[in-house]
Amino acid sequence: MRSIGNNISISINNLSVSYNDHGPDDAPVIIFIHGFPLNKSMWDTQAEALKENYRVIAYDIRGHGNSDQGIDEFFIELFVTDLLRLMEKLGIERSILCGLSLGGYIALNAVLKHPDRFDGLILNDTQCIADTPEIKENRCQAIISIKEKGVEQYADESIKKLFAPKSYTKKKNVIAAVKEMIISTTKQSLCNTLHAMAERKETCDQLPEINIPVLIMVGKEDKITPIAAAQQMHEKMFNSKLEIIQHAGHLSNLENPTAFNTHLVNFLELVGKKSFFLSDINGN
Ligand code: MLT
Repeated sequence: MRSIGNNISISINNLSVSYNDHGPDDAPVIIFIHGFPLNKSMWDTQAEALKENYRVIAYDIRGHGNSDQGIDEFFIELFVTDLLRLMEKLGIERSILCGLSLGGYIALNAVLKHPDRFDGLILNDTQCIADTPEIKENRCQAIISIKEKGVEQYADESIKKLFAPKSYTKKKNVIAAVKEMIISTTKQSLCNTLHAMAERKETCDQLPEINIPVLIMVGKEDKITPIAAAQQMHEKMFNSKLEIIQHAGHLSNLENPTAFNTHLVNFLELVGKKSFFLSDINGN
């Protein structure tokens, strides 16, 4: 029987994985994948907005939130395997995927590897390119700094880059919640995930293969995965729509949930129409 609620544990690939599951049994399923180094609670506002009409699942990827870390080296491909195992265990044949940043890397790889399992894709503040040598070097430095100076300092430095300047000074509660998510992640998981992101392969060349509807959203002031990265993906996917979220940096769903949710709901309505036309998505 299906469990409904928050922080449900399930065993996947020998790990205890934690997820939230809300909404009607027979509704279309949407699965949310969080960014780094956050957890499923970053999607609470979206779950609240959707749970009447959708089965909304948000889970903690391994080593984050309340999910076990396990003993394997982290790779994007391993996160994808975990996602597919989660769907299998929950009896979900097909779903819509929504990922932010690292969650977007996982979602993109999942859709490319298992195109028959997904009906729609929402990519937020993410990109298809691999790390440049400079970004790889920054990740190495971050790993050294986490090991030497600890997680709290890493959290304070990361937060400055994650948010738009105005959000950083005004959205105290959101900042506190994000800091809590970061400092409750273990040093080992932070380092493993930084390594996994540095090792990820580019997916840009494969984007034209994606033939499900895609919504791309990006915070106008996103410095980590900027508007140009979103535009690059948009140009490669003929059935994609691009929305720029005002008053937001890298965490667009937390910084401007009203705009984010409006685009999300509109897009899901389009996906729900069985006859999907390119003109719908382009607003013609
Ligand atoms: C994230 O928000 O998941 C990360 O910032 C992604 C990245 O560093 O590439």
